[in-house]
Amino acid sequence: TQATIVIDRSAVVAPINRRIFGSFVEHLGRCVYDGIYEPGHPTANADGFRLDVVDLVKELGSTTIRYPGGNFVSGYKWEDGVGPRADRPVRRDLAWHSLESNQVGLEEFARWCALTDSELMMAVNLGTRGIDAALDLLEYANQPDGTALSEQRIRNGAVEPYDIRMWCLGNEMDGPWQIGHMSADDYGKIAARTASAMKTADKGLELVVCGSSGSAMPTFGEWERVVLEHSYEYVDYVSCHAYYQERKGDLASYLASSLEMTYFIETVKATADHVKYKLRSEKTIQLSFDEWNIWYLDEHQASEEVNEEWRHAPRQLEDVYSVADAVVLGNLLITLLQNHDRVGSASLAQLVNVIAPIMTEPGGASWRQTTFFPFSVTSRLARGVVLKPRIDAGTYDTALYGAAPLVDAVATFDAETGASAVFLVNRSQTESIEVSIDVSGLDATLLTEAVTLHDADAYARNTLADQNRVGLKPLDGVLLTEGVLTVILPPVSWSALALN
Ligand code: AHR
Repeated sequence: TQATIVIDRSAVVAPINRRIFGSFVEHLGRCVYDGIYEPGHPTANADGFRLDVVDLVKELGSTTIRYPGGNFVSGYKWEDGVGPRADRPVRRDLAWHSLESNQVGLEEFARWCALTDSELMMAVNLGTRGIDAALDLLEYANQPDGTALSEQRIRNGAVEPYDIRMWCLGNEMDGPWQIGHMSADDYGKIAARTASAMKTADKGLELVVCGSSGSAMPTFGEWERVVLEHSYEYVDYVSCHAYYQERKGDLASYLASSLEMTYFIETVKATADHVKYKLRSEKTIQLSFDEWNIWYLDEHQASEEVNEEWRHAPRQLEDVYSVADAVVLGNLLITLLQNHDRVGSASLAQLVNVIAPIMTEPGGASWRQTTFFPFSVTSRLARGVVLKPRIDAGTYDTALYGAAPLVDAVATFDAETGASAVFLVNRSQTESIEVSIDVSGLDATLLTEAVTLHDADAYARNTLADQNRVGLKPLDGVLLTEGVLTVILPPVSWSALALN
């Protein structure tokens, strides 16, 4: 089977904003406690943060980190997580039916972000709280000094303000599971008022209003329209959340999940632009894809892991990812890049232990899941601008999406260094595909890297017992002659090529 790709240097989607490689840390399961934070661990620093995990986070190349939730934020009192640790209250977290010790809060997490070179993206609670608490948190976090809450922060040890630029106005308020769940009309009003007040304090903030928590929601599209009609002038982003999983052994459809993500993006773009023109606004709203990943949600919902007990940091949502999952994840990242003109920011949900690329054992090892690899390589190689390639490949049949292209790809080009990269997937379960890529426009003479994620067993995984079962392999046989790259993509694979 063969395919051709043409990369045109003038087909620029957008300059790369590093926020597209964001991730997400929620107080959920073992993401914070026994994940990034484990004071008794041999690698822990004075704050209790595991430095082996810090190293893996840096290698992953995640940038902006959304915090502290997720569903958790809709019942959260941020004040519980600041000040002397011995005085912090233990609370019930109703979202995940767990106990929250508050030993990690804004202060510790801001220090963890500095440790990992991450930008902190903060969510305010619009479930059980409102404008007042959001403004207090903003003052505590960003006011340099001279006010009650900024002086409290300084007394707590943080002399410099955190200067958090990106803020989420609540989380998934369209979901009936959300604490304080609201109608689009009610949420649109409270989001607009909160955003307006926050921007009165600092007009440079970048605010994210809640879009739908999934494209299968009965209110999808309509929710965005109503919410944006209330809040359009005060917000900068509308959020998108999407999780994918293989269902009923239908690997063919699952491998084409990017088509669903594309539909999601197109719907939200069209809806946001409808509101823009209706309101005769000059501004264009960006999409913040601030939860995206593979999540075997059906299986978790059928399990007893979220139950009536009140446990601290129970094992919840700990998916173990396969090679096929990593190929889908790599393809979703390709889709986000292809749409980077409108998807300005994204967060892989989540970072450690909870539907995560990084896993840890208490007192023990930390390791990379299969999904770690496409994310880290893309984050490392994608520089400069995104280029949308012209792809001519065959199709295959899927039950969910009809005919799906066998190959998907995106490219990047950095005019400063002359470096370029191409990221590709082969969705065929049986065939290797020979792809000839016209890169003549990139003036590249050297192939600097060629790696693939592929295994004879598409369901191979890394586990505690076998942490390095799956990893990147060299993509053999790549040829670069007279501006044409020839590669052979193995079945069910994700690959990256770097040129200079
Ligand atoms: O990422 C896990 C959960 O998924 C988040 O808490 C919630 O926002 C979404 O439903």
